[in-house]
Amino acid sequence: MTANDTIILALPKGRILKELKPLLAGCGIVPEPAFEDDKARQLLFATNAPNLRIVRVRSFDVATFVAFGAAHLGVAGNDVLMEFDYPELYSPLDLKIGDCRLSVAEPQDLSQEDDPGKWSHIRVATKYPEVTKRHFAARGVQAECIKLNGAMELAPSLGLCRRIVDLVSSGATLRANGLVEIETIAQITSRLIVNRAALKTRHGEVGQLIDRFSEVVDAA
Ligand code: PRP
Repeated sequence: MTANDTIILALPKGRILKELKPLLAGCGIVPEPAFEDDKARQLLFATNAPNLRIVRVRSFDVATFVAFGAAHLGVAGNDVLMEFDYPELYSPLDLKIGDCRLSVAEPQDLSQEDDPGKWSHIRVATKYPEVTKRHFAARGVQAECIKLNGAMELAPSLGLCRRIVDLVSSGATLRANGLVEIETIAQITSRLIVNRAALKTRHGEVGQLIDRFSEVVDAA
């Protein structure tokens, strides 16, 4: 077996990975034991299938690895897909996990008097500058985005800007930071993503994996 025979599946670190594990098990994919250790520095993992390996990377990087063909398949939220809009990515399957929403939020006291209908320019802290700019441009609002990679909820209290665009799941992080959701930009779930070229050149193996994930999702 050469490295070129290996199919690489890129998975996101963090909370989505917990929801993904039953799906992997349902597909009969058993990663090597080190995969279960969140603190392991290892990034590439063997599985029970000799030609299938898993890489564990940041969620935004899953899309990049798959778009450039370094990984054949991956799992990414439609938040990531909307932000990058890579034409090389095909997302054939909603895995129905990682359910959350991409929302605009601001401090509770500001929300009492704010009228989003009157905005013409806003400044927003976000990990999603492209989605945010597109969303607001569609209704004639210019969004100036300050790119952060995490802890967006701190931005209003430290005076970086008054509004944020971020993922909201339970709402606990917003509440803990005195923020309220004022608008939903998109509903988010995780998708199986595939490199379009790999779908052609490795059709048998990639197609079989898509079918296996699809059967498990349908049965859930
Ligand atoms: C996400 C998101 C929010 C939080 C929302 O961050 O960026 O901060 O979850 O979840 P909640 O509504 O249930 O509180 P995550 O914990 O995934 O880490 P990250 O900041 O590294 O993206």
